[in-house]
Order: sequence, then C-alpha cells, then structure tokens
Amino acid sequence: MSAAGAAPILEARDISIRFGGVEALKRVSLHLMPGEVLALAGDNGAGKSTLIKILSGVYRADAGELRLDGRTMQMRDPQDARAQGIETIYQDLALADNLDVGSNIFLGREPTRRKLGFQVIDRPRMAQVAREVLERLDIVIPPRKLGGPVKMLSGGQRQAIAIGRAIYWNARVLIMDEPTAALGVPEQRKVMALIGSLKAQGVAVMLISHNLHDIFAVSDRIVVLRRGEVAGERETRHTNGDEIVRLMVGDTYANSR
Ligand SMILES: Nc1ncnc2c1ncn2[C@@H]1O[C@H](COP(=O)(O)OP(=O)(O)OP(=O)(O)O)[C@@H](O)[C@H]1O
Ligand SMILES: [Mg+2]
Repeated sequence: MSAAGAAPILEARDISIRFGGVEALKRVSLHLMPGEVLALAGDNGAGKSTLIKILSGVYRADAGELRLDGRTMQMRDPQDARAQGIETIYQDLALADNLDVGSNIFLGREPTRRKLGFQVIDRPRMAQVAREVLERLDIVIPPRKLGGPVKMLSGGQRQAIAIGRAIYWNARVLIMDEPTAALGVPEQRKVMALIGSLKAQGVAVMLISHNLHDIFAVSDRIVVLRRGEVAGERETRHTNGDEIVRLMVGDTYANSR
C-alpha cells in the first residue's frame, strides 16, 4: 500500500485510440502508485493490451496524456519507455529463444571488455550477472542449462528470466500482459510470488490477467475495462470476484440472473 499523499509514478489521463471504426479506448484514466500491484481486468477485446501498448510506447494515443512522476511524458517507441524505467513483459515475445540466459538479460545492451587489444563482448560478466539475477529472484536453473539456449527452459523459468531482466535494468514500472496464461500451476505460483517480491522492492506492477484467483492473490487495486472504458475501480480487499465479473460484463450478467 502506498503512503497517504504519495504521488503516482505513472498516470494515464483521458487516453483515447481508434483503429479504423473501432474505438478501442475511450477517455481512459488510471494511475499506478510506487510499490503497488494494480490489476487490469476486462473481457476479451476490452482494450487491456491496447492500453499497455500505449503505456509501453508501442502505440501512440490519438488523445490524452501520459505522466511519469507527475511530468508529461512523450514516448516515441518502446526503447524510450525502457529508458524511463518502464519494462513490459509479454508471455510469448519475452525472450530470444536461441540465446542463453545471460545474452537474454543483456539483449542489445551487452557489456564489453578489452582482450588482446580488442573490444569484445564480456561473456563471463554476462554469465555472472545471469547467476546473480536468478539468485536474487530465488530461481533455480541447473548450471548445465544456464549456458544453453533459453528455448530448453520451461515457460515459468523463461518468464522468470524476463522478470529478472527487468529488475537488472532497474525497472520502476513493470507491466505484465497475461504472464501466467501458458504456465502450469507451480510455475504460475512462482510468477505470482515474484510479483510479490518486486512489490516489496518498491517496483510498481501492472498485471493484466483473466485469472481472478491471481488478481485477488497479488493485487492491491483492480481497474476494470469494458468496451474501451473504465467500468470501475476497486481496492482488492474491499471487493470480490462477483463484483469484478459484474463490472467486466456489465448488464448482460445482471440480466441473465
Ligand atoms: N492493431 C489493431 N488493429 C485494429 N484493431 C485492433 C488492433 N488492436 C486492437 N484492436 C481492437 O481493439 C479492441 C481492444 O483490443 P485489445 O487487444 O486491447 O483487447 P484486450 O482487452 O487485450 O483483449 P484480450 O483479453 O482478448 O487480450 C478490440 O476490439 C480489438 O479488435
Ligand atoms: Mg490482450
């Protein structure tokens, strides 16, 4: 929970975007506090992924404003968002399959060292950082797998590495779009536990999930989108699954009962 009077780290104000005839988001406003886990819920097509793509620099909103630390923020592309401490994790696009863990952590930001007068990529350093990051997140990957391509790892381990990368680069805001959708139950639990430890380290997390159990297990607050609009916002401890589902589906649900 954030302290009273604390300022939002990230804020979206009156964000609208349209794809041809589809108004994917209509004047959506929400904010994220430091050290808070905010769940973004909503039915298929509600606009969740579109909103996080705007927050992570993939799409540009047609109207509205993004603010980081209370200042208007321009984001031209995802690199821009990352440079400002906003990391986004997608279940499938998270890692480069054919590279090892260390290479995935550095991806495009590799450290170098001088060897025989040449500047070379510092592989020992990358391997060392990989071990440290995994240790910090309490992830166990057998040493023989650590140097191999990450496609040999399980979905949960891969997800953990993507989270580790965000931590290593000092993410202040971590956005996760359906991080556990393709995982087995133990791996889902691990990812949920990782979210808890990020929160404890002061990282603000925005979690998109269809899984109400996950949402109730880790979030402080829930924002529900319905057909591109904010249908409601609740503190997690003051609501329940029925109310959230009702907000997600609107009158259809009420009429069917
Ligand atoms: N690139 C695009 N081009 C055209 N329409 C799009 C595009 N991206 C999203 N949409 C439309 O915008 C609306 C919101 O889609 P979005 O992917 O944000 O939903 P979502 O809440 O993430 O759904 P899901 O839970 O199924 O992932 C949908 O009607 C979708 O068809
Ligand atoms: Mg989506």
